[in-house]
Amino acid sequence: MSIVCTIFLFLLTVSSAFAFAVPKPPIVRQLSTSVTSNSTASCSANGNPIDDCWRCDENWKDNRKNLADCAVGFGRDSIGGRAGEFYTVTDSGDDNPLNPSPGTLRYAATQDQPLWIIFDRDMVIQLKQDLQVASYKTIDGRGNNVQIAYGPCLTLYKVSNVIINNLYIHDCVPAKRNALSSLGGYSDGDGISIFESRDIWIDHCTLEKCYDGLIDAVNGSTDITISNSYMLNHNEVMLLGHSDEYSGDRDMRVTIAFNYFGEGLVQRMPRCRHGYFHIVNNIYREWKMYAIGGSANPTIFSQGNVFIASNNQFTKEVTKRESADGDEEWKEWNWKSEGDEMVNGAYFTPSGKEDSPSYAKFSSMVARPASLLKTTHPSVGVLSCEIDQAC
Ligand SMILES: *[C@@H]1O[C@H](CO)[C@@H](O)[C@H](O)[C@H]1NC(C)=O
Ligand SMILES: *[C@@H]1O[C@H](CO)[C@@H](O)[C@H](O)[C@H]1NC(C)=O
Repeated sequence: MSIVCTIFLFLLTVSSAFAFAVPKPPIVRQLSTSVTSNSTASCSANGNPIDDCWRCDENWKDNRKNLADCAVGFGRDSIGGRAGEFYTVTDSGDDNPLNPSPGTLRYAATQDQPLWIIFDRDMVIQLKQDLQVASYKTIDGRGNNVQIAYGPCLTLYKVSNVIINNLYIHDCVPAKRNALSSLGGYSDGDGISIFESRDIWIDHCTLEKCYDGLIDAVNGSTDITISNSYMLNHNEVMLLGHSDEYSGDRDMRVTIAFNYFGEGLVQRMPRCRHGYFHIVNNIYREWKMYAIGGSANPTIFSQGNVFIASNNQFTKEVTKRESADGDEEWKEWNWKSEGDEMVNGAYFTPSGKEDSPSYAKFSSMVARPASLLKTTHPSVGVLSCEIDQAC
């Protein structure tokens, strides 16, 4: 009897401790010797225009909406919920996705009016169905450790003006395709799935270990920036473009900037189809297959990145083409590397016209020298900002 009782009390203690202590997100470990630094400071003019825009402000908490003016790249016009009220999520639950309770993230994110959504504490949100975020929303996890995990995750379907900041999104699983599908059911296990949407900015998120992609943007989505995020431990990282046949993605424009593609990543950082992809000032560390790939004639402009190859002699190439007709076809695709720093034998195979006007036309932001990335510790992924201090 007393043993049963002890075990029961033990379980109770463990489960309540588990309920209250939200595990910390991973942080970037020391980089290889060629990239050294001990500074995690952010607003010290390290040349990151997004961070320099708000992180030095000791009152960032009272000025949260200033963030909406800090975006760069193709997603820079996304205003998120700037025109709306603040809404504070107080309930980590998702008991009734069809009729969500006030206080939950689902309730806030599915309202019609613009909202700037914040959180009252650290929490892990395990969704029952993918959460279809409505237009004109900011989900702002700054100041808390907010995780979306162990269930279906976020979907942006036919929306515009969404900002997602400072969320740790991991262990996402496919949505159920059932009676709830009017409210979701689109995600096949991505961290963030973007369909037919525009003016989207994803910044300072940490993403890992999802069933399908970490972030996929398809079906005519465009004007997207993915920045300052830390991705790790995943196979197919980012898919941009639905299929080779789907011409609706011809005008897709995506900026990938200041991200850290860290340990345990295999391929698709990103994998592009059609469209225009500006890949600027990211650090890529030891991909297991390739870093940047594509098919169906995408334009890829890689500028000011640091590519650190692994010691495997077969995976030194940054790029990969999937082309039914082989060289004949892909040699026409405009892929260019400018000012990238290649470490440990990494190499980028360019193609197309070196001076194609499309590079100037679709240059979405100014690249900083890659050497700057190597002198500061990458301040990426979710931030542990203290209230009342510069972040
Ligand atoms: C660490 O920071 C100090 C002070 O900024 C600097 O002098 C030193 O060179 C840095 N060390 C490394 C390894 O970057
Ligand atoms: C995306 O486009 C394809 C091809 O037209 C279509 O089959 C699919 O249903 C679309 N997906 C969504 C979620 O609308």
